[in-house]
Amino acid sequence: MPADLNKICNIADLEASQCRQFNYTDASGALVEAMLVKTAGTVKAYQNACPHWEVEMNWKPDEFLSPEQTHIICAVHGALFRLDDGLCVFGPCVRQKLKPIPVQVLDGAVYLPPQARQLPIV
Ligand code: FES
Repeated sequence: MPADLNKICNIADLEASQCRQFNYTDASGALVEAMLVKTAGTVKAYQNACPHWEVEMNWKPDEFLSPEQTHIICAVHGALFRLDDGLCVFGPCVRQKLKPIPVQVLDGAVYLPPQARQLPIV
């Protein structure tokens, strides 16, 4: 079982299509800003970096969804990304994808990838 330090949250803590922001350092020590979204029956994690300008996409903590909660939205220029695969379907970076993060789901909880270390949100 992964170390509790690497636990992001319990899946039950997320309502459907609700997001959770998290930061970690990867195996090389690089900072990764990321977000987790609960979709129908599973969770997906992506780097919090819009493929258009490589900037953070949220306008406030844990807020990544379009008003209809059907897509991830970039607050900078309004690009829309599918929840299930991070593909941009509207905006200036259409057909580009958010970078996925290989989180682990175990016993109803979501954990960082192996060798990652969680950091506080600043
Ligand atoms: S920076 Fe995200 S749409 Fe432009």
